[in-house]
Amino acid sequence: MNTMVWKVDKYVDNLENNPQVVDAANFLRKNEVVAMPTETVYGLGGNAESDAAVAKIYAAKGRPGDNPLIIHIAEREQLTRFVAEVPVMAETLMDAFWPGPLTIILKKKEGVLSEKATAGLATVAVRMPDHPVALALLKTCGLPIAAPSANSSGKPSPTNAEHVLDDLNGKIAGVLDGGTTGVGVESTVVDCTETIPVILRPGGVTKEQLEAAVGEVHVDAALTDEAARPKAPGMKYRHYAPNAPLFMVSGTAEFLQSLVEEKRSEGLKVGVLTTEENASVYQADLVLACGRRAELETVATGLYDTLRKFNQENVDVIFSEMFPNTGVGYAIMNRLQKAAGNKLIIE
Ligand code: TXA
Ligand code: MG
Repeated sequence: MNTMVWKVDKYVDNLENNPQVVDAANFLRKNEVVAMPTETVYGLGGNAESDAAVAKIYAAKGRPGDNPLIIHIAEREQLTRFVAEVPVMAETLMDAFWPGPLTIILKKKEGVLSEKATAGLATVAVRMPDHPVALALLKTCGLPIAAPSANSSGKPSPTNAEHVLDDLNGKIAGVLDGGTTGVGVESTVVDCTETIPVILRPGGVTKEQLEAAVGEVHVDAALTDEAARPKAPGMKYRHYAPNAPLFMVSGTAEFLQSLVEEKRSEGLKVGVLTTEENASVYQADLVLACGRRAELETVATGLYDTLRKFNQENVDVIFSEMFPNTGVGYAIMNRLQKAAGNKLIIE
């Protein structure tokens, strides 16, 4: 399949009538799949009511069929079509964070969405992305759009159109290239089907922000206990992994440098994942500074691009600094731990 690349400037007016957006929307209406920028990462969109379209999403990504998709909407009125009820707490979260990086799990109306999109669950994940191109595409096609991150399953999520093409060129109808995404880590997934909201996946909206909006917020046991079964099926998979083994390192820069030297003396090519503050401290084969530690948002923005860069340079092993578990640092650490397959070295 020839994958189209539609470049579109997210700042131009009247995006809904932009020829590139209209072209992409027409493919969605024909049940083809198209990648689109969102404020978090690029998504691979398809008509959520079509089994054929949803099957193409799973096939292009090589995604396990038991991992349900997030349904993207542009207007809250769309919820009535496929959601059974919206509790007050969910309304409050939508008021506070939509459009934005928050996915809300609600009870679904049976018989509307493709069963494949929800992996046969009685619930559905929904979000309204905060990106002008995504919103224009959703409005123009008028459909609820199922969209997982537009990467091959297991790889770091894509934060620009090149990442999407690296993984999916020839496998999808096209990609709307709206430049680099902003947040850099995926949306926070919150289950609102019980009385107290439960974070199933940390992401762009922080736990602290959620608490400020709705009070008490719980965290799925699987986020802290490796043995617990996650309520978000996708959280059980190893994800975001670079090709080389990645180790999280808890300790001083000197300790991390000593690990680098040990591996280099064995003839291995060693990579270090750090931030701008510490980049000059390390001597290794590839030292990558991912944002600034003093502003964790910048680390989130650059994280997946940094993980992908280690692949381009073919390092044999990667050592990464750790980050505080607060604010967006919670999502950063969650993704790094998954990328590392929980491999941790403590000084
Ligand atoms: O920022 C994002 O959320 C991006 C952009 C493209 O919107 N999308 C994204 O989708 O990250 P994906 O498919 O990579 O992750 C969706 C997560 C998975 O962990 C999945 O298991 C969970 O949401 N999920 C989806 N439906 C669910 C449901 N009904 N109950 C529990 N978890 C669900
Ligand atoms: Mg994903």
